Amino acid sequence: MKGILAGAIVAGVAAAARRGVAQSASGALFPNDLGPTSIDVSSYPKEYQETYKVFQFKCAACHTIARPINSQYVELSDAQQAAMKTSTPEMFKDPAVWQIGAHIWNRYVKKMMAKPGCPVGRDGKRIWQFLVYDSKVRKTGANAVAWKSSRQKLLEEFAKANPARYHELFPSTVAAK
Ligand code: HEC
Repeated sequence: MKGILAGAIVAGVAAAARRGVAQSASGALFPNDLGPTSIDVSSYPKEYQETYKVFQFKCAACHTIARPINSQYVELSDAQQAAMKTSTPEMFKDPAVWQIGAHIWNRYVKKMMAKPGCPVGRDGKRIWQFLVYDSKVRKTGANAVAWKSSRQKLLEEFAKANPARYHELFPSTVAAK
């Protein structure tokens, strides 16, 4: 009996892996959880390619790595924000797609590190630097449009599966567009 159950769980995980997603829509706590579980870092500086491996391992101790990978957080200095308000004003209109702050990843990594049993430790600083770089590359500039459509897909799927939780996370958004 135990063996059959374990087999079913393994099969379920394998099916999710084949779809390239972390979790079923009904079991997800964040829209992030429904998205891809890897980043193509082949064009990133060597230092960040190394940190990516640490990030993949340490930030997946309590939830899947999909949660930080598909996050709406973007950390931009005040000067960078001012520049992007001119170049990409749309980025400042929908915080469910782009939530922008000068210290947003810094604060968030610290929040994760304060949780009991968090294994991040001394890697916190370089993981934070990786997240700042990666968010800028994948969610802004030439990739802003692609990011918006992939994030909106997750929001729509999540809102359908779990409207109450969606509303709790994004009270100012009436419904996923
Ligand atoms: C010790 C367990 C633990 C570890 C390790 C951990 N997290 Fe989390 N994470 C959580 C929990 C629990 C939540 C749910 C929200 C909360 O309690 O803050 C969460 C939520 C999140 C969210 C969603 C937040 C939102 O409001 O949209 C992001 C993004 C995230 N974690 C990123 C990370 C990153 C990056 C790392 C590695 C530096 C990490 N987590 C490591 C426990 C952990």
